[in-house]
Amino acid sequence: MPDGAAEELETHDFDVVVVGAGGAGLRAAVEAQERGLRTALVCKSLLGKAHTVMAEGGAAAAMGNVWPEDNWQVHFRDTMRGGKMLNNWRMAQLHAQEAPDRIYELERWGALFDRTPDGRILQRDFGGHRYARLAHVGDRTGLELIRTLQQRAVAMGIEVFMECKILRLLKDGDGTVSAAVGYWRATGGFVAFTARAFVLATGSVGKSWKYTTNSWESVGDGQAMALWAGADLIDMEAVQFHPTGMVWPLSVRGLLVTEGVRGDGGVLRNSEGKRFMFDYIPAMFAAETADSEAEGDRWYEDHINNRRPPELLPRDEVARSINAEVKAGRGSPHGGVFLDIATRRSAEYIHRRLPSMYHQFKELAGVDITVDPMEVGPTCHYIMGGIRVEADTEATTVPGLFAAGEVAAGLHGANRLGGNSLSDLLVFGRRAGIAAADFAEARTSTPTLDPAEAAQVIDGALAPLAREGESAYDIHADLQETMQSLVGIIRTQSELEQALVKLDELDERARSVAVSGGRAYNPGWNLATDLPSMLTVSRLVARGALERRESRGGHTRDDYPKADPEFGKVNLVQRLDARGELTLAPEPLPQMPPELAALFEETPTGEEGH
Ligand code: FUM
Repeated sequence: MPDGAAEELETHDFDVVVVGAGGAGLRAAVEAQERGLRTALVCKSLLGKAHTVMAEGGAAAAMGNVWPEDNWQVHFRDTMRGGKMLNNWRMAQLHAQEAPDRIYELERWGALFDRTPDGRILQRDFGGHRYARLAHVGDRTGLELIRTLQQRAVAMGIEVFMECKILRLLKDGDGTVSAAVGYWRATGGFVAFTARAFVLATGSVGKSWKYTTNSWESVGDGQAMALWAGADLIDMEAVQFHPTGMVWPLSVRGLLVTEGVRGDGGVLRNSEGKRFMFDYIPAMFAAETADSEAEGDRWYEDHINNRRPPELLPRDEVARSINAEVKAGRGSPHGGVFLDIATRRSAEYIHRRLPSMYHQFKELAGVDITVDPMEVGPTCHYIMGGIRVEADTEATTVPGLFAAGEVAAGLHGANRLGGNSLSDLLVFGRRAGIAAADFAEARTSTPTLDPAEAAQVIDGALAPLAREGESAYDIHADLQETMQSLVGIIRTQSELEQALVKLDELDERARSVAVSGGRAYNPGWNLATDLPSMLTVSRLVARGALERRESRGGHTRDDYPKADPEFGKVNLVQRLDARGELTLAPEPLPQMPPELAALFEETPTGEEGH
């Protein structure tokens, strides 16, 4: 039996600890440090490696550099409509209002954006955005954002703890989060951080699906740790399948093909060479009209009247259309469709605008995208649901705990518009940093670490190393198969029920997972410690998907193909009750104030001002 109490526990104390060093975590840490607080940034990978880099095509912000008509009201409206009105209106408002400042700030900190001919930040088209509004750096925007923030964080002297995996959050007797316990991946030694405030910025959950843009870090540990600490999670069924991931070769299936390809003129064709997206527009009209007072009709009319190509409809629509084409037998040889930019853009243009895509296809698939089309299909990319936060401060429902970026929910509703995640993490990373700093300064109690609780966490982590049993890889593979086939892009009641039964079985198997080898750099052990998070989050997604008996945004129910206005009024809230049992209940969405609701009655133009 492992004896956690006998383990030496390295400890560190800070004012603010930020867990996760993608864009949101970096931005939060920069803000807390800026305010003079002792701030630590803890990440399980090397600094600079984060899912943020998978937002390649740009950061959405209504700067109006390409379309002077653009303004925050239009961005707000696009975001709400894209999210099928399930969004937290206040978050959508703050995001649209503050995104331009955050982009200019990033530029001042050294980000090298692409330029308009007269030297302003260039903005590109993306799905669901009425105007070209994505500030970008070729097709490497997320990388540039991380690079810039990382340099700033290091220059400011923020202490960074790399390759350090946090397993649990612990609370003081008054219920305030006070410590985080984890281990060093390099040595397997355990470590604890005490702090006056914590920010979770741990990102996504995609590693529970078989085909995903996410890498090994995206296991839903932040969502799970927040739940275990008593936080509310909302709308976990809202998972985004990006329409275009690579489908071939199999070894890289799921890898992102940026929406920037479509934003820059790429079109989707089926095996007959037909630009099939036009065929899906009437069906979308019908599906949407069933929802909120013809709001959907206006949305699509607007899109088409503005001569926006159907490939730039929101991601959920495009992903479902691709899925339908493949199902109808009009797919590409490897089970996707064709994304063609070569016939519409010159090789010079493609090299300049999409250098990573060129290299990705050349190196990995032997395809020259300046000549031939890409084979693409939907891939799990993002979760809109997550930790419930207060819009202005990113405070969770647990004192001392804040959350920002993908791990938090609200901004994107049922479907996220591409490009809104990079601006999300800048806007709300900063806000979380401010609020965590304020909380830390105001906290009167000294955070403590309960050695018995820490020992329990350590015992749990060490157990797989001390027993015989099943490999974590086998359990993970079965989990991915389950989520891909039963909780994927199209869902039904019976499949979701099957998924929950399978998750019970997987939970049982995970209880006796075993790991061979030692603690130092053991990826098998790392995966074994990830299984509880992945299984917990997968269960939340499946339960939410079963409960939401409608189709809305990224959540599509074959047995409830229309949006239901009643479900459109509620978040599905999941939390642990006093006995540790998972509960799920609908709770009303915050009411939008009349001046914002009025934006949906008219077509905002530049004349409305900023
Ligand atoms: O397609 C992309 O470049 C992804 C962007 C995003 O998820 O925001």
